[in-house]
Amino acid sequence: MEQIPFYDQHQAGIITPAQNFLCFASFDLTTNSLSEVRKLFQLWTESASLMTSGQMLGNTNNSQNLPPSDTGEAAGLTTSKLTITFGVGPSFFDSRYGLSSKKPASFDELPSFRGDALLPEWCGGDIGVQVCADDMQVAFHAVRNLARIARGTAVMRWMQEGFQRSSTADPSGGTPRNLLGFKDGTGNPDTHDKQAMNEIVWARADNGANWMQGGSYMVARRIRMRIEIWDRSPLSDQEQTFGRYRDSGAPIGSKDEFAPLDLEAKDSSGKPLIPLNSHSRLAHTDGIKMLRRAYSYTGGIDAKTGQLDAGLFFICYQKDIQKQFISMQQKLAASDKLNEYIVHVGSAVFACFPGVRQGGYIGDTLF
Ligand code: HEM
Repeated sequence: MEQIPFYDQHQAGIITPAQNFLCFASFDLTTNSLSEVRKLFQLWTESASLMTSGQMLGNTNNSQNLPPSDTGEAAGLTTSKLTITFGVGPSFFDSRYGLSSKKPASFDELPSFRGDALLPEWCGGDIGVQVCADDMQVAFHAVRNLARIARGTAVMRWMQEGFQRSSTADPSGGTPRNLLGFKDGTGNPDTHDKQAMNEIVWARADNGANWMQGGSYMVARRIRMRIEIWDRSPLSDQEQTFGRYRDSGAPIGSKDEFAPLDLEAKDSSGKPLIPLNSHSRLAHTDGIKMLRRAYSYTGGIDAKTGQLDAGLFFICYQKDIQKQFISMQQKLAASDKLNEYIVHVGSAVFACFPGVRQGGYIGDTLF
């Protein structure tokens, strides 16, 4: 099975086509020593390059008298397109490590948006690690071993698993559907278009910090869906919410999923075919673009209400969070019809490092 190189110009897991599963971990550092942080990043780099190439960690896996250096649950499994993407949050640049002057300009936790109901247990973190793979056990193994290696230096703050339809269920590789039943990702920019990726995703030195050149800024939002309410809404309401047909994913008034949104089209009574408050229309206007890489999630049952705790673990990458995510989310929070059916409960931002070169380590452009 295909292996995705860890060492590259950019970190893998950003423009890499989304694998089937996500295991996302946010860590808080427990040390005040910069050299310990650097050491952790070096150990994580070495481990990430081993795991993404399908090798066991450490060399005490066969000794009867020692705890094995690899936890073992990925032994004999293929790499399953494992990618491990590292970034640091705004709190990484507080006074602990003397790196405040390196904080990218205007890189802060997100402002609050209308309708937010954030829970502290799903927010923030000094370090964010997005692990994706076509096998959940391979992804979990990576997160577990990174946490194990970090013991004494960092602790996990929160962890979120995510999924989408697998490539076995859809060998054609069509656009995956979210838990509201709609194709999600149709309007994403083409990741093969280098110029578009440079314009939308990859940070330049003048996007906040020199050391982020070739990196990307990630926004993660845990967005719970009011599934029970959605399930009682008529199909026409659902389609008006997105401005797209559920079956084909095409914009209302068009047949083809990838047809451009015709924002001028009107019905016989003069009403816009794609409603003014529909999600696709609002997210399409103003020329703002970002690369979405979201996964569905479920956290089982909400013990308080007995309802499903499920939704979208929204991840997007961009070169400028202020101009891209924040501008768009302000608009969506104000008038998106989708707000009747969703609530944002978690939030984090991470400056994801440029790619690591052989012999280097994650974050080495920063130190
Ligand atoms: C488009 C779902 C939240 C940004 C879409 C589409 C769906 C969708 C079905 C149409 C198909 C497509 O182009 O992918 C959702 C759901 C959300 C959510 C279920 C929450 C649970 C957000 C958020 C943002 C966002 C928070 C950013 C602030 C976009 C963008 C597009 C889009 C940029 C493409 C618009 C275009 O055609 O240019 N979303 N979305 N979405 N969404 Fe969302």
